[in-house]
Amino acid sequence: MGAVLELSGVTKSFNGASALRSTDLQFQRGLTTALIGPSGCVKSTLLRLILRLIEPDGGSIKFDGTEITRQNAPEIRRRVGYVIQEGGLFPHLTARANVLLMSRHLGQPGEQAETRLAELCALSQFPTEALDRYPAELSGGQRQRVSLMRGLMLSPELLLLDEPLGALDPLVRSALQEDLKKIFLRLQQSVVLVTHDMAEAAYLADEIVLMNEGRIVQKGTVAELRDQPTNEFVREFLNAQRSVHF
Ligand SMILES: Nc1ncnc2c1ncn2[C@@H]1O[C@H](COP(=O)(O)OP(=O)(O)O)[C@@H](O)[C@H]1O
Ligand SMILES: [Mg+2]
Repeated sequence: MGAVLELSGVTKSFNGASALRSTDLQFQRGLTTALIGPSGCVKSTLLRLILRLIEPDGGSIKFDGTEITRQNAPEIRRRVGYVIQEGGLFPHLTARANVLLMSRHLGQPGEQAETRLAELCALSQFPTEALDRYPAELSGGQRQRVSLMRGLMLSPELLLLDEPLGALDPLVRSALQEDLKKIFLRLQQSVVLVTHDMAEAAYLADEIVLMNEGRIVQKGTVAELRDQPTNEFVREFLNAQRSVHF
């Protein structure tokens, strides 16, 4: 197994104000890790730092043992799938064109790409007849499935998901959670999932990293956070979701 991603002393400030305090964190290969915490606690920023869409002020981030630099970031980004809040699909491209975008950009043979697309439709339960529709012609759940297919198209070694189900109604959301769980297991995918929903984290993740105000408060299984909270914030964060049984 081992770590697919390793952060050591990573820091980031915006306009002189510290956003991410010095952070050490390892993400294990083949597992799903949930980054959870209140809005503004730097979850999305952490994913952007990993992808080098923004530069850290200090510290290092290693992907598969190699330190990510400005120079190798474009190459590493191709080995990492990224699905953002609301999906981020291009509205003027069909579902098919959205999924195939990077593959075409990299000049992959069309036949190989179509085979992969068919696999992904089966995996993510997306109806192939809807591939030629534009995002506006799809349901919210279908759009998220397209975003997921796009994230998985190049068989990434790591998949980063930023609140992928945040905008969906509860029934669609729960169906997608079940499908995601099956997909991650089937692919033995290494996943970092950002969410603010503890029930979702408990259902999907092997390990939970609870953050607050730019730092990690506690890392562990949901049972560890519940039974051995390291401070009052952890207790309150879990209590705030007490209607959920886990
Ligand atoms: N590019 C940026 N410039 C200035 N401030 C930013 C930038 N990106 C994020 N921030 C600030 O960093 C904090 C964390 O943001 P974010 O990572 O989006 O939080 P989360 O995803 O946990 O809700 C917020 O206070 C936000 O305003
Ligand atoms: Mg966010």
